[in-house]
Amino acid sequence: MTIGIDQLNFYIPNFYVDMAELAEARGVDPNKFLIGIGQSQMAVSPVSQDIVSMGANAAQPILSEQDKKDITMVIVATESAIDSAKASAVQIHHLLGIQPFARCFEMKEACYAATPAIQLAKDYLVPRPKEKVLVIASDTARYGLNSGGEPTQGAGAVAMVISHNPSILELHDDSVAYTEDVYDFWRPSGEIYPLVAGKLSKDAYIKSFQESWNEYAKRHHKSLSDFAALCFHVPFTKMGQKALDSILTDSASEDTQARLNEGYKSATDYNRYVGNVYTGSLYLSLISLLENHKLNGGDNIGLFSYGSGSVGEFFSATLVDNYQDHLDVKAHKAMLDNRKALSVEEYEKFFNRFDNLEFDTETELEVEPKGNFYLKEISDNIRYYDTVK
Ligand code: COA
Repeated sequence: MTIGIDQLNFYIPNFYVDMAELAEARGVDPNKFLIGIGQSQMAVSPVSQDIVSMGANAAQPILSEQDKKDITMVIVATESAIDSAKASAVQIHHLLGIQPFARCFEMKEACYAATPAIQLAKDYLVPRPKEKVLVIASDTARYGLNSGGEPTQGAGAVAMVISHNPSILELHDDSVAYTEDVYDFWRPSGEIYPLVAGKLSKDAYIKSFQESWNEYAKRHHKSLSDFAALCFHVPFTKMGQKALDSILTDSASEDTQARLNEGYKSATDYNRYVGNVYTGSLYLSLISLLENHKLNGGDNIGLFSYGSGSVGEFFSATLVDNYQDHLDVKAHKAMLDNRKALSVEEYEKFFNRFDNLEFDTETELEVEPKGNFYLKEISDNIRYYDTVK
């Protein structure tokens, strides 16, 4: 019996700001953002794209009418919840037209939550061979204008259909999770932006990775040479590289070191132009790896998920033969290429409008592809969605 990722897609907002321009506006050497942090562009959220519309937009292209009948559980992983009670999964379930006899709920543990969602889906499906689970990771990463975290913002959603006999990745029963109570990044209820201990957050990430990986290698008698590539949670591209560097020691052969370093470059190609998408970052990185790197069916991929606070998890999966046929590379490249560049001044306007929920639908929908979902209005604290005509 194999269970895993049958379909995989992402959505990002149609606006971005150039990181060199942002650096200049902030009086910072552009190389700090481009090289030190490793980001070239940053996705900017319009008010009309929240976690619900982005999640639905990520899922819509990969769901057939049959999938909508087979899906019996919808899980949304997010740390940008728009409601403390009602789960965004319920709204996404409605927008996508999934059959009504389904469980829908939200999961939270900073950027980590999509991983337990996938693991839960895998276990849930064991006695249900005909059913499927839709897992969505959707977030708007925001630290505030002129804040330390500003260059590591972003927005986007990743949708994954988990099923038996998957077409893309078979998940193994080998995950190792590591939990440590640490205040490296948190957002107390009522705060718009998270609080971050920047240096601690980098150290906590690396420690969590090393603990998870070392325990994984010990329990399963594995070494780095067993993996064709490794994927990481990518708050910014330099972060995963630092974690990788920390274990690429002399014990790994030159071939292994070169292979994993090359793989990491491919696995962060998309993230470098999107920024942090919190819960979806690892899975955007996975798509980036699969669409920008030469791999084969049967190859083993190692994945490291991290959520501040903190929980880390290392797990692995095997690529299915002809997985390439189930990825829409052309659509993904077009989505990245067709975005509208914003000047820093425009980005700041977008940013403030998002906080104040000031709609400017005409400007925002000009570049949104027809048929996509968007947040139309909020009335009496109820969010109303529509599709672009
Ligand atoms: N050219 C090249 N590199 C440069 C540079 C330049 N001109 N100026 C600085 N750098 C490098 C620094 O040496 C540093 O690299 P290092 O980490 O390898 O030492 C890197 O750029 C970042 O510089 P730093 O001084 O640490 O930046 P910062 O104090 O502004 O904070 C973050 C960076 C990531 C901590 C901050 O953006 C943040 O808090 N982000 C949100 C939290 C987060 O994403 N945490 C990650 C774990 S989840």
